[in-house]
Order: sequence, then structure tokens, then C-alpha cells
Amino acid sequence: MSKRIFPQGFVWGAATSAYQIEGAWNADGKGESIWDRFAHTPGKVLNGDTGDVAADHYHRWPEDIALMRQIGLKAYRFSIAWTRILPQGRGRVNPAGLDFYERLVDGLLAAGITPYPTLFHWDLPQALEDEGGWSNRETAYAFAEYADVISRRLDDRIRDWTTHNEVTCASLLGYQLGIHAPGICDWYTALRAAHHLLLSHGLAVQVLRANCPAADVGFVIDPIPSEPASDSPEDYTAYRWFDGHHNRWFLDPIYGREYPADVVSEHIRRGHLPNGLDFLQPGDYDLISQPLDYLGLNYYRRGVLRAERDDLVNSVPPSHNPPPGYTEMGWEIYPDGLFNLLVHTWLTYRPRQIYITENGASFSDAPDENGRVRDERRIAYLHRHLQAAHRAVQAGVPLKGYFVWSFMDNFEWAMGYSQRFGLIWVDYASGRRLLKDSALWYRQVIETNAIPDAEVEQSKEC
Ligand code: FCB
Repeated sequence: MSKRIFPQGFVWGAATSAYQIEGAWNADGKGESIWDRFAHTPGKVLNGDTGDVAADHYHRWPEDIALMRQIGLKAYRFSIAWTRILPQGRGRVNPAGLDFYERLVDGLLAAGITPYPTLFHWDLPQALEDEGGWSNRETAYAFAEYADVISRRLDDRIRDWTTHNEVTCASLLGYQLGIHAPGICDWYTALRAAHHLLLSHGLAVQVLRANCPAADVGFVIDPIPSEPASDSPEDYTAYRWFDGHHNRWFLDPIYGREYPADVVSEHIRRGHLPNGLDFLQPGDYDLISQPLDYLGLNYYRRGVLRAERDDLVNSVPPSHNPPPGYTEMGWEIYPDGLFNLLVHTWLTYRPRQIYITENGASFSDAPDENGRVRDERRIAYLHRHLQAAHRAVQAGVPLKGYFVWSFMDNFEWAMGYSQRFGLIWVDYASGRRLLKDSALWYRQVIETNAIPDAEVEQSKEC
């Protein structure tokens, strides 16, 4: 099998988010976020884990940048904690928070690593949640204020800004399923939240354009490429509903369409919108669909849908001994889904450029007696997904870069520290870091700008 070479200048990176790695949850004037509150509430996160310390990146960032250099990362995608900048969500600015991200960005630039900051990766200021959080339209304007403060400070140094990470999860997991902060279970509240998240994106794009005219601005989302479990009309209906409320509901308005009519009708039929789209105001669609420089896609798995079930039938319960073909999250491994997602999204919405902003696998392989982490299943996962990405490039998708989730092991939301996605092993008790075999493998990919020649042996396939 010949080497698969990626286009020149392809951006090879890795990703993290603030709450998942930083720790220092109340240090140097930081305000409380909904994730601080949620994780501190007994019963919300597995094993009572919290992000209070996490990987302590807030204090260890110089060491982390040194590790990025060892892997040869060209780019680092991270998120900014809103509560470090504006502890109450709006109003008073916390200079120590601005200083932290300035030092981080300067450190990255000095190491030759391009920073890709994301403004929101789920850690909403609790003070705003107390006023209704994303279900309150005012939160969108507070977000624009925050975007203004941080982008004025970092304006000349950031070339690539992302507004949001996965508004789908922020709204549906947080306000409808209640398994993420703020833990609300109500469809109408979730749909209002989704609308205001989309609106806040549009407002922030305008702010970023004004403050950083030379920068690229994008949006990161996690559509789940889906299909019916069979050819039956009932399974098609289940698929259409899932694809509608999970995927099209978010991407259609971002790309200048209205909320999909079939999904609006179904939400009304199910009683989710008692007064229709009453949160939609004149001009909102124009605000939401600001032209973008790139779309970031996060891909982990496909969705298979069956009639009478709203969940994905191609998952198994999370386990440290997953059956073959699944990761420890219980997610099916399906690299073709990445190809399908890239091609379908490109053909449907015509984004100018696409990044894979997250892709990776949870496997908890631990260091052996020599301190080596032989995470062959992660290597196989990455290898096969990069093959799919490469096929998409050959098919004409304007794919600009790829970010592994995650740079290092971290706090996996409701699953706490039970799941490890990192290229780097983190010993949470001591904070010690170790490059896993996958990090060394990825270094080779980056160095050669290609997927290695040798096919992954069948026995190592995940
Ligand atoms: C994505 C999130 C990221 C991480 C991965 C596993 O949905 O953006 O923070 O939790 O899943």
C-alpha cells in the first residue's frame, strides 16, 4: 500500500478544552461556571469526579507546550474559560484571566505552534445560568461582550478563531437530556437554548470580524452521520427525525437556511414547541448565518436508528473491556462515517474550508513497568480515520487540517476520569505526563505529512 500524502501545509494538531484540563477552578479571580456547579453536585458526575484540579494545565502549561513540541504539533486547539475573563459573565473583567491566555498564546507562538482558540466549550458562567443561561436571549449578548474583551486582548496574535464547540451538545445534553451542566430536562428550554447559542455565534462572528479583520473565523459542530437500521419506512422515519433534530437543526440556519420545516412540525407534534418558534425574532436568521471561513467537524461515530427509539442502537454500555469494534465509551468504530460526513457536509452546505477539529478514541491502556503506554488500539483508530480523511481529500473536500482529541487525558464530562482519550498519559495524582505510543506515531505522521506505509496489522485493528 503506498503512502498517503496530505496536501502541503495541512494543519496537524491536537485539541483540549478549558474545563477538561485546566483545573484551578477558583484561582486568580476566576468565577464559577456551570460545570463547577454541576460537578460539585453529588450524583452528577461518575465517581464524584470534578475538574477542580484536572490535568492542572493552568499551572503546567509550559511543560505541556514542551510536550506539544516533542510531538511536533503544528497547531493546538483549546478553549478559553469565559469565567476567567468575566467572572460574572459580563461587566467586570478579570485581568489575571486575560494574562493567563496571553501567556499561553505567546508560549505557543514562541514554540512555532498555531493557537486555535475556541470561545465556548460548555463552561457557561454560573451567574448567567442563574438568569436562565442559554435559554435567556440576554446570554447571547453577554457572549458578544466576552468575545469583544478577549479578542481585543489577543487580536494581533490569533489567526483562527472559533466561536462555539458543539452547540448541539451544549443545548441538548445540557438542557434536554440533563446529563451535562446545567442538568435541565426540558425540550422547549433546550430549543430556546439552541437558538440563543446560534444567535450568540452570529453576534460573536461580527465582533471578531471587527476586532480581527485578518483572522479566519469558524464554527465547530458534531453532526452524527446517520442511517436507518433497515429499509423499513419506520426506521427511515426514526433516522429522519434524528438527523433532523441533531444535525440539520443546527447546520441549516448556520448556512442560511431556516429551521427545517419537517423538524419544526415534528417538534410541535411532540409538544416541544407549545407556541411554535416563539424565540425567533426578525433578523435572527441573518445574524446566525454570517459568512464563515471554515467549519470544524468533530467526528467519533455514526448513528444507526431504529423505529420507536430515539437513541443510537449502534452503541454498547461504556466499559474498560469493550467488545471488538467499540471504544471504551461504548461508541462503534466506523471510519467510513468520517468520509461520509466530510463529503455530505461539503456537498450540502459548501463550507469554504473544513477542519476535522476532533477525532479520537477512549482506551485506558496504562503505562507498563518501563513507563511505556502501548495504546495500539488508539493508533489503529487514528490510522483508519486518517485514511478516511485522505479519501475525502481525494474526493475534493477542502480539508485544511486534523486535530486529535485529545492532546492529553482529561476530565471526560459526565464520565469523569474514567475515560482516557489522550495522546499523553496523565497520572492525576502526581500530574506526571507520559507520551503514549500513539503520540510517537502521530509525530511520524506530522513529520512526513502522510499516513505511514505499513498497514496496521489485522490483529491490532480495533
Ligand atoms: C466531544 C467534546 C469533547 C470530548 C469528546 C470526547 O463531544 O467536544 O470535549 O468530550 O467529545
